[in-house]
Amino acid sequence: MKVKKAVIPAAGFGTRFLPATKVVPKELLPIVDKPTIQYIMEEVASAGIEEVILITGREKGSIEDHFDTSTELENHLRKKKREDLLKIVQEISGMVTLVSVRQKEPLGLGHAILCARKIVGKDPFAVLLGDDLIDAKIPCIGQMMEVYQNMEGALLAIQKVPRQETHLYGIIKGKKVMDRVYSVEEMVEKPEKGKAPSNLAIIGRYILPPRIFDILERVKPDKRGEIQLTDGLRALNREVPIYGYEFIGDRYDAGDKLGYLQANLSFGLKHPEIGSKLKKYLMTLFPYP
Ligand code: UTP
Repeated sequence: MKVKKAVIPAAGFGTRFLPATKVVPKELLPIVDKPTIQYIMEEVASAGIEEVILITGREKGSIEDHFDTSTELENHLRKKKREDLLKIVQEISGMVTLVSVRQKEPLGLGHAILCARKIVGKDPFAVLLGDDLIDAKIPCIGQMMEVYQNMEGALLAIQKVPRQETHLYGIIKGKKVMDRVYSVEEMVEKPEKGKAPSNLAIIGRYILPPRIFDILERVKPDKRGEIQLTDGLRALNREVPIYGYEFIGDRYDAGDKLGYLQANLSFGLKHPEIGSKLKKYLMTLFPYP
């Protein structure tokens, strides 16, 4: 079934990035010259998804503003004859149809997704986390939509991570059923060191059936009072198959300081305007082989 709508949860507090995120949402911090969430919006648009439901929270109005038209700025650029910049600014507001829903309190990823229920309706939908950046020739969510065409149930993006990092992720136990596709038997959220069932980590891209909403309604909050998506997925897996898809691309956790800097370096080195200058600069930092 064709996926037409995407939910982008962006209502978290971004505590790993304080104090930068006290007022500025982490999703708006730039990777070179574009906010993280714009890369994600571009991924959605180039996969042919028509409507995005943005889940926002406190101090997140600026995310909506970023994707809205800015008449004042456009007039200014017109007056200054900066047609090049005008085009860039106008393209952002025309990218996709955006609807935003406010999550009044950040009660977890599961709760954030539940906030989109009324707008999503009755078809399978995509979820892309607002701080998870994936650099890929074919957009990650597009790769997943292709695989999902012949499936029912849910599809999760997965990636092999170093064994010593499995405690930072949701980890699946699965059986390989096709090239890059695993049938998920078990999911463990942030397993204790040495107790992970594999090194296949769940990454911030999902295609979910609408049944997940009924399930999330019933999921009990965890110790921190949050409704976890993984708990919902575990219950969903008792009713429908869940698959993991090992996507092709490089992933950066832009909500984490190190991941954010890595993304900036990687995108910076490929940037037509600054790439070669950045490379030269980096080489001066490490002059000896
Ligand atoms: P994270 O756990 O990375 O976001 O959630 P966070 O809570 O903002 O981060 P830290 O740990 O405090 O630094 C993954 C995604 O889910 C969204 C976040 O905005 C992020 O894009 N999210 C999380 C919500 O929309 N609502 C929530 O209640 C929690």
